[in-house]
Amino acid sequence: MKLVIAYIRPEQLTQVKQALYAEGFYSISVTNILGSGRQKGFTETYRGVPMEVNLLKKVRIELGLPADRADVALALIRESAQTGKEGDGVLFVLDVAKAVRIRTGEQDILA
Ligand SMILES: Nc1ncnc2c1ncn2[C@@H]1O[C@H](COP(=O)(O)OP(=O)(O)OP(=O)(O)O)[C@@H](O)[C@H]1O
Ligand SMILES: [Mg+2]
Repeated sequence: MKLVIAYIRPEQLTQVKQALYAEGFYSISVTNILGSGRQKGFTETYRGVPMEVNLLKKVRIELGLPADRADVALALIRESAQTGKEGDGVLFVLDVAKAVRIRTGEQDILA
């Protein structure tokens, strides 16, 4: 199994969620987070005045899925989260050592 972690813009969440659901990715976790990227969070302006805010509101999405589905999920997230502007976020794919469904004890078949 793999774990896909995506940091995206909060305003893209609905679109990303819909893209994932449309392709059968229903098991996801979403958290509100604060973050900064290469611009150190200093790019956003308020009425043309740069604001000294270095942590911006972002959303973190996590999906545990079969290894052969990771690239599909990655492409869906990238397409639905992209605006083309700085701050669109980043994606990570991690190897999962073990996954267990608590109710049944099933291992490594979570989707
Ligand atoms: N290397 C990283 N590790 C962990 N989180 C990251 C990393 N890079 C970005 N993030 C998260 O993603 C959010 C958005 O990052 P952002 O899109 O600005 O990345 P970037 O590398 O600066 O790309 P861009 O040049 O397109 O802005 C950050 O606020 C942070 O929450
Ligand atoms: Mg950035």
